[in-house]
Amino acid sequence: MASGLHIHGERVWLKHYPRGGLARRLVHGLLNRVVGALGADCLRAPPHRGGDAGRDVERRRIELLRAQGVHVPEVIGQGPAMLLLGDIGRSVSHHLRRMGGDPERIGALAGRAAQAIAAAHRRGAYLGQAFPRNMTVDGERIGFIDFQEDPGEIMPLAEAQARDWLMFAVGVGRYYDGREDALAALLGGCLRELPQARAALARTVARLGFVERACYRLGRGPRAYGVALRALRLAVA
Ligand SMILES: Nc1ncnc2c1ncn2[C@@H]1O[C@H](COP(=O)(O)OP(=O)(O)OP(=O)(O)O)[C@@H](O)[C@H]1O
Ligand SMILES: [Mg+2]
Repeated sequence: MASGLHIHGERVWLKHYPRGGLARRLVHGLLNRVVGALGADCLRAPPHRGGDAGRDVERRRIELLRAQGVHVPEVIGQGPAMLLLGDIGRSVSHHLRRMGGDPERIGALAGRAAQAIAAAHRRGAYLGQAFPRNMTVDGERIGFIDFQEDPGEIMPLAEAQARDWLMFAVGVGRYYDGREDALAALLGGCLRELPQARAALARTVARLGFVERACYRLGRGPRAYGVALRALRLAVA
């Protein structure tokens, strides 16, 4: 949970880390069993910590990502179960929603965002929650936020990177329904330079073929998963 504030004319974000309840842990445990049984290990949910522990994970991840050359917010200060973060722009999802479905503008921004993920991966980083709502447009740069969960605690680098691509593809999926080829071309171009993430993705999407088909028969939300899985399957073929 993050609140935008203004301090001396500067926009900053106060992020709180509420303690997760038992219900959340139970749902996570159940989902992890399901994705584990499907063989989609990279989709297992990392521990979700609240309080000072959640704050410390986010702070540690921000500092590591900055050292890896990824554009992340500055940590301005911290308090009990809180971090004060610098602003790095409006989210990619905010911009995508305002493009009136224009495929060229959507493709240009989605392409920039995908290139930013690829650049982070080439430096040995992974993001963790690479949905367009957790990516920002900061002038010429694409930024990343939301690091309270660390997939690196439960999976190797290639799986964590594959997870980033799945999340990104799901997040942009609704803009590519019926244009899966275009999304596949965009993702495939990035993945060519990332053989290990690409191999991990290929294993995962191969196992999720029936999920892909089922998602297309459901409503708009699940269809985005179908679009993402189809585009990724084509991208790694
Ligand atoms: N440093 C920042 N710069 C710009 N916007 C930010 C920043 N931090 C947070 N935000 C805004 O606040 C929203 C929520 O922040 P964040 O994703 O870190 O929290 P969260 O509680 O994990 O949210 P969610 O579960 O919805 O992803 C972001 O989607 C973004 O719009
Ligand atoms: Mg978020």
